[in-house]
Parts: sequence; structure tokens; C-alpha cells
Amino acid sequence: TYVISASCVDVKDRSCVEECPVDCIYEGTRMLYVHPEECVDCGACEPVCPVEAIYYEDDLPAGQEDFLAVNTGFFDDL
Ligand code: SF4
Ligand code: F3S
Repeated sequence: TYVISASCVDVKDRSCVEECPVDCIYEGTRMLYVHPEECVDCGACEPVCPVEAIYYEDDLPAGQEDFLAVNTGFFDDL
């Protein structure tokens, strides 16, 4: 799955939502989240985020690895 990380917080540009072919990016209070089972790993969202918040799960930068669990955990709470 792709993952949205820290730089989305309080930015919420939403360009990623427009690009996603399966509508698997959902809005929370302070950031957006990718549904890990609905994401088809197409990568379309990644280049359009102006703050480079989106990464493939294995490519999260140092210090941002926890955002995989942050994304998946959002859906556990629904
Ligand atoms: Fe949507 Fe593709 Fe991004 Fe996954 S990688 S969130 S399917 S645009
Ligand atoms: Fe957030 Fe970037 Fe999407 S700021 S809402 S991940 S385009």
C-alpha cells in the first residue's frame, strides 16, 4: 500500500484524492489516509502531492515509518 505521512498534517491539499482511480484516500480531522486493502499500488497519488507526503510503504523516509501503522489504524477505528 501507499502511505500518507507527516507533511499532510494540517495541509490536506487533496490533490491525491483527485488522482486515485479507486477512491481509497479518506479524510480525517488533520490529514488524509490511504485504505491499505483498497489501494492498488498504482502510484498515481505520489507525484501530485505538493508537500511530498505520499510514499510506498517500503520507501517511507527515516522517522516516518510509523505512518504505515497510522494509516492502517485509522480504518481500524472506523
Ligand atoms: Fe490510490 Fe493508487 Fe495512490 Fe493507492 S497508489 S492511494 S490506488 S492513487
Ligand atoms: Fe495530503 Fe498531499 Fe494528499 S497534502 S491530502 S497527501 S495531496
